[in-house]
Amino acid sequence: MLKQARIAVLVSGGGTNLQALIDAEQQGALPSGRLVLVLSSSADAYALRRAEAAGIPTRTVSRRASGSREAFESSLLAALEEYQADLILLAGFMCILSEYFTARFPQRILNVHPSLIPSFCGKGMYGLRVHQTALEYGVKVTGATVHYVNEVPDGGRILLQKAVSVEPGDTPESLQRRVMEQAEWILLPQAAEIVSAQIVKEKNR
Ligand code: GAR
Repeated sequence: MLKQARIAVLVSGGGTNLQALIDAEQQGALPSGRLVLVLSSSADAYALRRAEAAGIPTRTVSRRASGSREAFESSLLAALEEYQADLILLAGFMCILSEYFTARFPQRILNVHPSLIPSFCGKGMYGLRVHQTALEYGVKVTGATVHYVNEVPDGGRILLQKAVSVEPGDTPESLQRRVMEQAEWILLPQAAEIVSAQIVKEKNR
């Protein structure tokens, strides 16, 4: 009888979304899942320190050192297999995954994106650039989206969304912070619990 889905978190940078997952797990808000691996595309990602502090095993697979995308994705897949990951969360993971990777985990990869998809998303739209573009456009409401990941960048089915106000005088940095605090850090742990519970249910059927 499987009690918890095994969750791997893929990161590239600061890891505040990873921290939200760690906090949720420690506070009992992720009862159906367990964080078993943090996989980084960069050796100096601060997210790795957060994982170590929480006692979660870490691995780094450098995109650049891997050479080809296929070699990079094969190394990621090998680590995920080693840790028997059931669910993969992209939490500030700044590499696009091809169908070679995504087809191996249908409905089992989630991404958090800092806008209300289909606005300000797709190739080249990540991190602060998303908020800068939203401010340039002049939208008054933005937010975050958690969606399933397929081979289309930011194109998989939407699972959760939350709106956040743009305030007068916002900078990309202030808007990013508000979207994280009011949406991303809430949605990602919620989504992780929803899909983990589904995985547990399916495995025990
Ligand atoms: C987050 O805002 C996340 O939504 C975004 O990068 C930031 C990573 O922060 N991801 C993307 O733009 C992916 N398209 P974090 O490392 O502190 O979690």
